[in-house]
Order: sequence, then structure tokens, then C-alpha cells
Amino acid sequence: MTAPVSHVDQLGEESSIWFKLTPLLKGPNNPLTVLMQMAARYGGVIPVNMASQRVVLLTDPEHFKRVLVTKADDYIKYFDGLKPIFGKSMITNDGALWQKIRMPQQPAFHPDMFAEYIPYFLAAIRSKMEIWQKLSQTGETVEMVEQTWTLAADMICKALFDREMPFNPHFVFKCVKTYTDVMNHKSIRLKKVAGEEFEITEENAAKAMETWAGVPPEVFAADPREARERTLLKMIEAAVADPTIPEFDQQQAVDELKQYLWAGTETTALTLAWALYLTSKHPEAAERIRREGETTYGDREPTAADYSALAYTRAVIQETMRIYPPIWMLIRVASKPDVIEGKEIRPGDRVALFAYGAHHSAKFWENPEEFMPERWLGDAAKKRKPYTYLPFGGGKRSCIGGAMSQVENVLALSILLRRFRPEYVGAEPPGINATVTLTPKGGLQFKIRELS
Ligand code: HEM
Repeated sequence: MTAPVSHVDQLGEESSIWFKLTPLLKGPNNPLTVLMQMAARYGGVIPVNMASQRVVLLTDPEHFKRVLVTKADDYIKYFDGLKPIFGKSMITNDGALWQKIRMPQQPAFHPDMFAEYIPYFLAAIRSKMEIWQKLSQTGETVEMVEQTWTLAADMICKALFDREMPFNPHFVFKCVKTYTDVMNHKSIRLKKVAGEEFEITEENAAKAMETWAGVPPEVFAADPREARERTLLKMIEAAVADPTIPEFDQQQAVDELKQYLWAGTETTALTLAWALYLTSKHPEAAERIRREGETTYGDREPTAADYSALAYTRAVIQETMRIYPPIWMLIRVASKPDVIEGKEIRPGDRVALFAYGAHHSAKFWENPEEFMPERWLGDAAKKRKPYTYLPFGGGKRSCIGGAMSQVENVLALSILLRRFRPEYVGAEPPGINATVTLTPKGGLQFKIRELS
């Protein structure tokens, strides 16, 4: 087998927890129904023996805190099957090495930087609006996650790398989706077993990974847009040149870019796409977002202060991530023995924190299945039990770009809805694929209408 094809061996058919859990991910529309029922029936710690692997499902927020914060060093990161996407980037590392890699990049995500980034986010949103204007004229149906992914990738390239996107984002999106959709892994395997032809061939998956590997070098080689000095890309280049961190070599830099171009885009894009779906189904919320934009920044471009004032739009984004958390399950590997609720955790156990379950539990939320952005306004939000809402994870390994993604999505939702009425025209309710991320099955189909 040639080197690129061997990526397919790492798809994790046999080893990846996402694949292993597929027998439990059942339900006509929502594959998480079975896990929700298990959580209600069996409590906070549910060991599941799966062939050669023990998976321990945690459903109680107290236990989330233990794994993410109190005993964080005893539960290490888990990346089976995803190394080709993320390489050896910081998201996959632990301990002192993780810290050495994260430190030089941390300043790029300080909230003080957001005001600097906003003009670049706005430039990307303007490009998207030009595309949407054409789509509104042709009346064609578009898939929204692809639309929002290309927007998120454009925002990252412009704001964090000082580059125009040097790749075709639609092509890259499709390639990597081929790889990350664990349901495809299953179809590869099942068809192998049945001796049939593959739907997604090994060669296709290998080609997808080749395309992906080519993206960071293209970003490095592209001309800077404005030769800005304070960008994430500059910080990464400075880390490579820093003799005190020899671990941060050129390959590390390439892998950090891969990480941002996926971890920083897919999650952001899913959130915005689901928010557009929810606001299409709740036109009163879309109207309130439009009014809030009108009174906050009117006909001028929004600023960082305006972002802070867009409280309702932000509540819609927060509520979207509660209902559809892009990372629906956080996974760790136990490195030491532990006991939780009297149940033994053994070294090597895959420990899965069921974030989606906490987000949808009636114990913590009134009418958890209802879309109620208002629950994020006023005092109620402050009284919430800790660790019941964790779209960005928790503890020291929480998302580096979470706060920034809120700025991106709040501005995008506000501006796009003021000019357009994206109308969801897909199946109702949309099906869900729960793989590494929570994605709409077959995407979210929309028609774009321009408001007069
Ligand atoms: C709605 C948007 C986003 C969501 C829901 C999200 C979610 C998450 C979650 C849950 C984690 C922790 C995973 C774990 O504990 O296993 C994480 C980590 C991470 N995220 Fe995000 N993320 C988002 C946006 C972004 C953005 C915009 C960036 C950067 C441009 C980013 C970069 C990262 C990185 C580098 C890590 C690893 C941090 C570390 O291990 O130190 N994310 N994200």
C-alpha cells in the first residue's frame, strides 16, 4: 500500500471512538436519542464495553469538571483517526509540550485583538454578501454549511494570517469532509466486507488528504494582504525562529495552520449554519436581530463596541450552540486509575463527556428542546449550574478561539440577516450526523432571498 492510501488505515474504522459508538447512535432523525435515554436511565457514569475497548460515558456536569479541571492531567487528549487532519498540532498534545506550543500563539486570541480583526471579518462578510446577492437572483438552492465554511475560512485567512484565501475553499471543504465524516468510514468498511465497490474509495480519501496537506504551504507562500506585524501567522513564524523552543519546528508551524483551518472553521461554520436554520424557522427572532442591528450600528460598519451591544444576536448564537453543540462529546483517555461514583476508571479507558446530554437535560434547562434565546438574557443566565453548558470545552484545554468565534458569528448573523432572508427549504426536522462534530445529515438546503 502506498503512503497516502495508508491514511485510510487511520480513519479509525476499528479504533476510533466515533466509529465504535455508531451502534448506539440511532434514531430516525436524532442519533443521540439512545445516548440521552441511557443517561436518564443509568446515571452519571456509564461504562460500555465495545469489543476490545472500554468507553466510559460521563453525563453529570460534576464529572465533567473532574476530568477537565480537577484531575485534568490524568485524562489526556484523544485523537485516534484524526492525526492526518491535525498533524502534531497543539490540540493533539499534552503536558509541557502542549504548553510550549500554545504559549507563543495565545496573544493572538486575547480579546484586545478583536477590534483589530473586525475590519477583516467585515471584509469576508462583504464578499459573502456579493455571492448571496447573485444567489438571490438565480434563486438556486445552496447548502448552508458549505456557504458558512467558506466564510469562516476567509475570516481566518484575512484576520489571523493576513492572506487572501490562496485555495479554492469549496474544493478543500469537500475534500476534508470526505475524510472526517465517520459515516463514510463505515460505508468504506461495510462495502469492503460485502465485497462491493466503495462509494468513497480509499484513493479518494487519500487524495482528500493530499489536498489538505497542500493547504498550509499555499498559505505560507501567498503574498501578505497588508504586511501586518501582529498576526497569528507572524507569531507562529517567530516561534519557529525561537531557539528556546526547538520543538516548534517548521512541521509544527504547518500543523498549527492545519489545526486552525479546521478546528477554527468547521465549528464556527456549523454554528452559523444552524443559527440561520433556527432563525429561518423563527422569523420573529430574525426580525429582532434585524432591529437590534438597525438601532445599534444602523448604516455604518459595526465596531467592537457594537458587538458588545448586540446582546440578543449573541443570545441567538449561544442558544444555537446549546441546541446544536458543534463538539457534542469531549473525549479523553484515562492515564491513571480513578473512581467516579464508585465506578472504576482504568488507564486506557476512553472517557466520553456527553456535552450534548447536559445541554438538553430538563434538570438544567427549562423546556430544553425549545429555541429560547431569551434564556441567555438577564439574570437567569448567571444562575446556571457550572459545566452544564460547554460548547468550548472547559479547563485549561478549552477552546483558544471560542470568544473570537462569537465575534465572527454575531457580526455575520447580524449583517447577513439585515440584507437577506435565507429560507430553509430542506427536510423538517433536519437529520443529524453525530460524528466528530454534530452535522446536519446531507447538509442544510436554503434559498437566499434579498430583502427589499
Ligand atoms: C463555534 C466555534 C467553536 C467551537 C464550538 C469550538 C469548540 C472547541 C472545543 C469544544 C474545544 C476543546 C476540545 C477538547 O477539550 O477536547 C476546542 C479547542 C480548540 N479550538 Fe475551538 N471551537 C470553535 C472555534 C474555534 C476557533 C475560531 C479557533 C481558532 C481560530 C479554534 C481553535 C481551537 C484550538 C486551537 C483548540 C485546542 C486548544 C488546546 O488544546 O489548547 N476554535 N474548540
